[in-house]
Amino acid sequence: MNDRLKGRRAVITGAGSGIGLATAARLRADGATVWTVDRAGEVDQQIDVTAPGASEAIIAAARAGLGGVDTVLPFAGIVRPTPLSLDDDADWDATIAVNLTAVWRLVRAARTDLQAVPNGRVVLIASVMASFGSPDLAAYVASKHGVIGLARSLAAVLGPYGTTVNCIQPGAIETPMTDALFAPGQPGGAFWRDKSALKRLGKAADIADVAAFLCSDDARFMSGHGIFVDGASTNTP
Ligand SMILES: NC(=O)c1ccc[n+]([C@@H]2O[C@H](COP(=O)([O-])OP(=O)(O)OC[C@H]3O[C@@H](n4cnc5c(N)ncnc54)[C@H](O)[C@@H]3O)[C@@H](O)[C@H]2O)c1
Repeated sequence: MNDRLKGRRAVITGAGSGIGLATAARLRADGATVWTVDRAGEVDQQIDVTAPGASEAIIAAARAGLGGVDTVLPFAGIVRPTPLSLDDDADWDATIAVNLTAVWRLVRAARTDLQAVPNGRVVLIASVMASFGSPDLAAYVASKHGVIGLARSLAAVLGPYGTTVNCIQPGAIETPMTDALFAPGQPGGAFWRDKSALKRLGKAADIADVAAFLCSDDARFMSGHGIFVDGASTNTP
């Protein structure tokens, strides 16, 4: 679409589907070279981001594939019901491992790369649920609150090197993650469509376009914040 990201070398996880897939395409359209990672789909590297050593392996492969890394977008995520009555910890652990711990590890693995350039970029994905609670999604909500805290903390650590760290808080976006929730006949889609002042659900491209902006020089003085991209679906009770 333009060349504002020309020369930028970005690694993105969760790039096999949904928001990550759309963001990889948008970054490329804006001139970046992109290393795509997912456990499934057509990507440069198929790997489970929670596997031991995965983050280091991803950054090493991206470095080799792109000739360096200056932009990190850990977008892989999962959502699992975790009601308080659930005795088994598996879904809690899996959600925190993908949505929070792997995010921390990927940025940690890229820290020397980011510190070596004057204008590194980290874009994280939280959710509007990082600012609210949900009775049946405690693990998802907790993980996304954690991502906001991570963005603030990483912005403080990496800011002195010139790297910005921001966090997008999407509203209800139509992707494979939400297919079942927003399927025709399910109340979820109608609920979020009505709640949005723009009277529609979000598209993956709505998030990808903001991610590309955050990676660009236009966003050079933005750092440490969660940015709602939700069609004004959460500004009224
Ligand atoms: N869709 C929404 O309404 C919405 C709203 C707010 C936030 N988000 C967040 O946006 C991000 C992208 O979600 P999406 O809606 O595009 O969903 P999606 O399911 O389409 O994409 C998520 C991708 O992450 C990958 N992934 C999951 N676990 C992985 C693992 N362990 N290792 C490697 N890859 C793994 C999946 O294979 C998938 O390709 C997630 O972090 C999600 O929490 C989505």
